Amino acid sequence: MFPNLDEIIILARQAGEILRKGYGQNHQVSYKGEIDLVTEVDRQSEAFILAEIRSRYPNHAVIAEESGGLVGEAGTKWYIDPLDGTVNFAHGIPIFSVSVAYVQDGKILLGVVYDPMRDECFSAEAGKGAWLNGEPIHSSEALKLEQSLLVTGFPYDIRTHPQTNLDHFAKLSLASQGVRRLGSAALDLCYVAAGRFDGYWEMRLSPWDLAAGALIAREAGAQVSDLQGGQNYMQPPHSILAAAPGLYAQMLQVLREA
Ligand code: IPD
Ligand code: CA
Ligand code: CA
Repeated sequence: MFPNLDEIIILARQAGEILRKGYGQNHQVSYKGEIDLVTEVDRQSEAFILAEIRSRYPNHAVIAEESGGLVGEAGTKWYIDPLDGTVNFAHGIPIFSVSVAYVQDGKILLGVVYDPMRDECFSAEAGKGAWLNGEPIHSSEALKLEQSLLVTGFPYDIRTHPQTNLDHFAKLSLASQGVRRLGSAALDLCYVAAGRFDGYWEMRLSPWDLAAGALIAREAGAQVSDLQGGQNYMQPPHSILAAAPGLYAQMLQVLREA
């Protein structure tokens, strides 16, 4: 038994409803690291998604951010980020999402990212296309880096790891129209898919941050790779570049120089 895109859309929308209801309330915040936090709403959303997957696909393997990995049948794997953009959520900033991906034999087949505050549901199926609330989406036709709007993010270990992304940020800020930092990697990728941003890069993510969004960006026509130009973004260190096809090589060159 394998999932289909429609049921993952329903699942992500239901989890998004948990986030929407919890938004703006007082939260029990606990810290996983110095600046990496988690709220009770992350856990509620994840418990809901896990229970649904477990009841329908009891033998599937699942990697979920707050509870880690659940072993299962070889070849099946779900990646769950129950709340991508927790820091925004905890500060009352309405930019966050639910991200769910289904991977079969190492290939990302289905991906859904739901933004409950804007009721925007991004989805994709490998080889079939990408959609926003059921309408097809496409990456931008940008050709010039100096006129392109980009987005990035910074890792939680920015204070202790030698690679901070600040050098890339400085270089691309000077070379482009601007670089935003929204705080939800999954939405960053979907905004590239929808042509809102022309390009996105980030380093040292986790697979649940990017699995669904990478498929959505790719199916929308964006070029997606790791920061070396290879296809290993699902392997550590989970670095990723997603850009409009006319911009990809220019961004990769700047990233390699920084
Ligand atoms: C984080 C967000 C953020 C990115 C971080 C992620 P979380 O996920 O996607 O945009 O810069 O690297 O860890 O902790 O909010 O699920
Ligand atoms: Ca995340
Ligand atoms: Ca999260």
